[in-house]
Amino acid sequence: MGSLRGHFPFFFVVVLVLSSNHILVDAHNDSTTRVELEADFKVIAELAGNTAIPNTDFKSLAKLSLTNAIASCNAIHSHINSLLKISNSYTGRCLTGCSTNYEDAVGLITKSLAALEARDYVEAKALISDALANATKCEDRFQELLQLNSPFILMKAKFGRLCLIGIKHINRLVRKERLITEGCSHTLDKELCKSSVEFFLENKGLSLQGLAKLAVEKTLQDCTKIHNHISVLLKTSSDECLLKKLRSCSGHYQTAIAKIRDSLPALECKRYGDARAWVGAAIDWAETCEGVIAGKSNTKSPLTPLKTDFNRQAALALSVIYKLAGN
Ligand SMILES: *[C@@H]1O[C@H](CO)[C@@H](O)[C@H](O)[C@H]1NC(C)=O
Ligand SMILES: *[C@@H]1O[C@H](CO)[C@@H](O)[C@H](O)[C@H]1NC(C)=O
Repeated sequence: MGSLRGHFPFFFVVVLVLSSNHILVDAHNDSTTRVELEADFKVIAELAGNTAIPNTDFKSLAKLSLTNAIASCNAIHSHINSLLKISNSYTGRCLTGCSTNYEDAVGLITKSLAALEARDYVEAKALISDALANATKCEDRFQELLQLNSPFILMKAKFGRLCLIGIKHINRLVRKERLITEGCSHTLDKELCKSSVEFFLENKGLSLQGLAKLAVEKTLQDCTKIHNHISVLLKTSSDECLLKKLRSCSGHYQTAIAKIRDSLPALECKRYGDARAWVGAAIDWAETCEGVIAGKSNTKSPLTPLKTDFNRQAALALSVIYKLAGN
């Protein structure tokens, strides 16, 4: 399957990968679902190849602008505090108000970073606007009381620019997410659709081999995250029945992690059958754990949300490996 190596036109790779996703087809073995799944893969391929959806990481750019805005804001704040020590009482009144304004602004931008992380984009933008309003209020105070610009007006301009760049990137991020969400809205597993499109967009430059390695590494991370979460639950839970089940699960996930680790060198050596089998085994171990927790009483598993992410990532990894193997 040497012809599959190297750099493919991106769209072609996506179509190749998605047109042969046996895993999900096997899991939904009835012909209606199969037809629907194939339609989904087509949607994902078209979305990932759609040049109207930029593959820029707007979120990181927004975070970078906001982090710099905080640094700039802190610089202004300490400048104000040093001016306060040498100023007369009239200027001092302006500066004291400004000191509070910039202190507030730092807090607001910090909160907006958290809102961005939580995907609350409306809130993130509102917080940045409030921070800007605080900086402007400080300037207004200088104009009203002294009919002067503040001595740090240039620093304020820089802070303002960084805030606006932050807002601009958030707007672009919102637009990109809307395009993907709308595109995925008619697919069976909307979240799998979104994460696949984002994965392919983010890694447009990679070969099929590179995509497989990355997808398996991400699967390993997700699996490790679940194992760590179990360790935390083992320390914090007091429900004896659950603890017993979690102890079994800890072992199951350790095995799952080992299987996924083994699949990486197998991939490297082009033993695709082994790589696929081991990722598949990891999925089975995770499923076994869910069964253990559910038990006869059908207990709700505290691991299910994390396991859903893990399953999606594993399905994606398997589909790329299948394609590498030439299936
Ligand atoms: C799907 O189900 C049919 C029987 O309903 C069976 O013959 C076939 O082997 C199954 N296919 C897969 C991929 O499991
Ligand atoms: C300044 O920040 C505070 C929050 O710390 C906010 O309540 C207030 O509205 C802001 N000021 C302006 C003028 O926006």
